[in-house]
Amino acid sequence: MRCYKGSIAHIQFLLGIAIGIVITFFFSSMMSLQGSVVRLPPEHPHALGERRLAENSFDVHSHLHEHGQEHSHEDLDNLEDPHKVEFEDTHFHHDDESAAKRLSESTRVLCWIMTSPKTLEKKARHVKNTWGKRCNILLFFSSETNTTFPTIGLNVSEGRNHLTGKTIQAFKYIYDKYYNQADWFMKADDDTYVIVENLRYFLSGQNTSQPVYFGHRFKVIVKQGYYSGGAGYVLSKEALRRFGLYGNDTKRCRQDGGAEDAEIGKCLYNLGVSTGNSLDALGRTRFHCFNPETHLFGGFPPWYYKYDNDGAKKGTENISDYAISFHYIPAEKMYSLEFYIYHLRPYGIISQLQNLNNKPEVISVTPAAG
Ligand SMILES: *[C@@H]1O[C@H](CO)[C@@H](O)[C@H](O)[C@H]1NC(C)=O
Ligand SMILES: *[C@@H]1O[C@H](CO)[C@@H](O)[C@H](O)[C@H]1NC(C)=O
Ligand SMILES: *[C@@H]1O[C@H](CO)[C@@H](O)[C@H](O)[C@H]1NC(C)=O
Ligand SMILES: *[C@@H]1O[C@H](CO)[C@@H](O)[C@H](O)[C@H]1NC(C)=O
Ligand SMILES: *[C@@H]1O[C@H](CO)[C@@H](O)[C@H](O)[C@H]1NC(C)=O
Repeated sequence: MRCYKGSIAHIQFLLGIAIGIVITFFFSSMMSLQGSVVRLPPEHPHALGERRLAENSFDVHSHLHEHGQEHSHEDLDNLEDPHKVEFEDTHFHHDDESAAKRLSESTRVLCWIMTSPKTLEKKARHVKNTWGKRCNILLFFSSETNTTFPTIGLNVSEGRNHLTGKTIQAFKYIYDKYYNQADWFMKADDDTYVIVENLRYFLSGQNTSQPVYFGHRFKVIVKQGYYSGGAGYVLSKEALRRFGLYGNDTKRCRQDGGAEDAEIGKCLYNLGVSTGNSLDALGRTRFHCFNPETHLFGGFPPWYYKYDNDGAKKGTENISDYAISFHYIPAEKMYSLEFYIYHLRPYGIISQLQNLNNKPEVISVTPAAG
């Protein structure tokens, strides 16, 4: 009985306390909510955050009200804030690659890399590990065959004086063996970095049946200009065909010696292959004969101001958002470029193609100057 009586008394006592707590919380929460909302003007930068806090305290208290349970302050602090952003950055982002995939089927690019036994492991290996794998076909040409790497050995001596011979032979080899397997044929050095998706994007607006080639244009030596060897240059199918059929004509094409890019420029000019315009719709550059820092901040060598066809411009605003190539990229930087371009993402920003007036980007081919 005592026990029973005692229990009744206890229940009544606890009930009284519970009701008291509930009423106290109910009123205090109503007041704190009103207080916050009234006190903070809506345009106040913290208004939203504080109102959320007030709403949360209201949620907590009404939760308590419904269940008549008493929570310690520790419990209240540990309750999950429903507005808290959960950082689940343990995952990898997933890019929608479908547009790039489609282009890789419709605009097939063969890339060939000029390398040498000395730079094979130091440089070419890193092209193979990074951007090279995005080409439809990737070939390495050297003065020695290496069946493991693999490289294709050409019948040339090593050294700066024989780069022309390497290029002449490489394009002939490609014409003989790969003419039907790609739509465009790009030459690059083993310290060139190429954003292959942007190369395809640019080329998808060009006609590979026309005798044309593209790259970073120099306006000297050849009437129609020629392309820097280091920035890489890309031949249309028709340009490759002419090269394959008539590139061995010593009257039109020097077979070795001289400066490789200028000699190839003269040769293609003599074969009726034009230099096309590769600037974007805003006049910004896509192919670059220096590294990104030089094109961003300047500090070009004096000769560049005489050579560059497009005003030797510098800065973010003068470089295309869809830039294609950079030169003088040491091994480690190939991997950092991979990191910046294909891995690092600013959260919540989704990139979309957008042009002036929302019109599709217009890329024109400049006819040969003479
Ligand atoms: C051939 O390539 C393999 C694989 O990259 C490399 O380990 C080897 O040193 C190369 N051989 C020569 C003679 O350069
Ligand atoms: C390699 O080049 C040399 C001189 O340029 C030439 O005499 C020789 O016939 C060439 N060999 C092959 C296999 O083409
Ligand atoms: C591409 O060029 C070829 C050769 O000049 C021409 O016959 C063809 O109509 C062109 N195609 C387009 C889509 O302009
Ligand atoms: C040049 O190449 C073409 C096509 O392969 C061939 O028919 C021709 O005989 C070659 N000319 C010389 C001089 O080697
Ligand atoms: C782009 O190039 C033009 C011409 O050289 C120059 O006036 C302008 O300052 C450059 N833009 C930037 C952002 O450097």
